[in-house]
Amino acid sequence: MSKPQDFFRYAHRELSTEGVSLAGLAREFGTPLYVYSQEAFLTPLRALQDGLEEIRPLICFAVKSNPNLAVLKLLQEEGAGMDLVSIGEMKRALLAGTPPGRIVFSGVGKSDEEIEEALRHPIHSFNVESTAELTRLSELARRKGKSAAVALRFNPDVNPKTHPYISTGLKRNKFGLNRSEIVAIARNERNYPGVRLQGLSIHIGSQILSLAPFDEAFRKMTDLAIELDEHLAEPLEFLDLGGGLGITYAKEKPPSIQNYCRTVLKHFGKKSRFYGRYRILLEPGRTISGNAGVLVTRVLYRKKRDRKDFLIVDAAMNDLLRPSLYGSHHGITALSERLENAKKIRTDVAGPVCESSDCFAHDRPVSAKLDSGDHLAILSAGAYGMSMSSSYNTRNRPAEVLVSKGKYRLIRKRETFDDQIRLERPARGGKDPS
Ligand code: LLP
Repeated sequence: MSKPQDFFRYAHRELSTEGVSLAGLAREFGTPLYVYSQEAFLTPLRALQDGLEEIRPLICFAVKSNPNLAVLKLLQEEGAGMDLVSIGEMKRALLAGTPPGRIVFSGVGKSDEEIEEALRHPIHSFNVESTAELTRLSELARRKGKSAAVALRFNPDVNPKTHPYISTGLKRNKFGLNRSEIVAIARNERNYPGVRLQGLSIHIGSQILSLAPFDEAFRKMTDLAIELDEHLAEPLEFLDLGGGLGITYAKEKPPSIQNYCRTVLKHFGKKSRFYGRYRILLEPGRTISGNAGVLVTRVLYRKKRDRKDFLIVDAAMNDLLRPSLYGSHHGITALSERLENAKKIRTDVAGPVCESSDCFAHDRPVSAKLDSGDHLAILSAGAYGMSMSSSYNTRNRPAEVLVSKGKYRLIRKRETFDDQIRLERPARGGKDPS
């Protein structure tokens, strides 16, 4: 289980990672600034690889959680594959050097253009989410004289007991196919001559804090896999177990990676009835990237009020959307340990965007000493941080820095105003519709 402070700790009274002080990075690159630790990405990946050694799964990192090319390169060089949901993410994965055979293309609505582009590469599989998509994929592949490897995404109707916006494996969610749809597809396999039905996939939700939903979903999946073998010409080759294992943001106690692996092994390991029968894939995102990054921000102003203070900082909801969108908690700590240890008062830490939801913390005890020019780190921002950023309010997206063993490098420059307006055409006039 990864915790916010595993890789970002005070050293010589300054918040640091891998021997590099974040205050120095803030001075050099400005704020808001995403800072990542290489070791923090690799530790959970290796824990999954070690914990599942006996079945040697293909671990496909969920690119959407942190798509920076340097991050993808780092992970693919350690043996990871990539799970992606758009052709843009596929281009990133390929640019980062991922072998196509380690790529799975998920996503609930793939366009013709995306399918056609993906068919150009020998990817591991398409995770198909509807009968209509399967028909379309089969047609497009046939037209090109190809045969696409497919996993049908099964919606097992399991409650992952997480935030409703990130719960995906319930009947009422838009994701996947239900059991009867999948059985019907398998029975009518010949209606889809452009595809090879080779696998099943599931992904029941994100930030899941107990093993029971995984256990139940894996069981439902293997039950279905057995049933399908009665109908399919060739037996299924692989099962993709999705992602979703939660991390600690505040005081949550998610299952450890080791215990998660035990649950996987219970169903697919040496002592299970399915050992060796299916290749196993995983799609972890947050488990790998969540606690690998922080967002460093600078205090602009302190506003004193009777009941609490407001700290207005230079990061905003456009840089890190999670608190505004899901009401999610992120730890916040001063870069200076001396300031962090000062008396705390009730504070809202808010950004400059013109929305009341642009607030990183409500009524949080925060050091009363922090003032204009001081720096804070918003913790656990490595997953769904930069990847969900926008330029709302014409704010430039932050820069990103990756730290490894006492060294650091800029892995994405700060966006500029020119970057933002590059595609706009302010001239008047227009074309007549024909
Ligand atoms: N596979 C599929 C098909 C997915 O849809 C997702 C995430 C993952 C894998 C990776 O899930 P993870 O291991 O990261 O939980 N923006 C939200 C999270 C959205 C997750 C969407 N799907 C957040 O900030 O909490």
